[in-house]
Amino acid sequence: MATQSSLVISLGGSMILSGGVNIKYLSDFCNILSKYKGVKFGIVAGGGRIAREYADAVRKLCHSEFEADEIAIMSTKQNAKLLISACNGKLNVFPEVINTFSKAKEVAKDYDVLAMGGTIPGITTDADAVLLAEAIGARAVINLSNVDGVYNKDPKHNKDARKYGLLSHADLVSLAKTKDDRKAGKHFVFDLVACKLAQRSNIKIHFISGRNLDDFKKCIEGKPHSGSVVKS
Ligand code: UTP
Repeated sequence: MATQSSLVISLGGSMILSGGVNIKYLSDFCNILSKYKGVKFGIVAGGGRIAREYADAVRKLCHSEFEADEIAIMSTKQNAKLLISACNGKLNVFPEVINTFSKAKEVAKDYDVLAMGGTIPGITTDADAVLLAEAIGARAVINLSNVDGVYNKDPKHNKDARKYGLLSHADLVSLAKTKDDRKAGKHFVFDLVACKLAQRSNIKIHFISGRNLDDFKKCIEGKPHSGSVVKS
């Protein structure tokens, strides 16, 4: 994979599950990937609402953050499996959800697409996405979620919030530091650990709305888009 252009996509659970399983979205997403024959894709699926529901239930039942994370990870893996099903027949996709980064590295030699969910308690799929990028030598991470970029304040609660077109890894780390509380299903647009990992390996991150598939294509093609870009 290192010799070919490769990209990691962090696909938010809210894109995969909106109401129920968003079959049309999954299908459109894989159709886009299939147009880029020279690019290899490592995809990390988020957990979305279902992961948060399960994590909250476990938290109430046994007051264990570790177990809340464990059950949320199971939801992310289920979503990764959905992605594999959506790619089947259209792309050279590895047929199983990958559990470790070393396995991902190995699989990436022979397959154009691989899919993962979460890995260990205490982090999020954002961190998994950056670790996967490190493992397979990807040129960037594309974060597709229900947030269309990085803002200086929470845009849901601040009308004057401003979206960054471009920011540095140091800026992203500072923003993430103010929002990190290490609880399942609760984090800033990008987890603090993920921000620091991207900084240490100088991995570029694109934040775009998962609903804007034109921006997604632009990202893959290395063209400007309406989201935020993080680079040093
Ligand atoms: P994410 O929070 O990464 O999924 O994982 P998401 O749906 O994309 O999140 P949003 O929609 O952006 O908010 C769901 C949960 O799974 C656990 C964490 O509890 C996390 O909040 N998780 C995930 C882990 O414990 N370890 C992992 O490696 C990944």
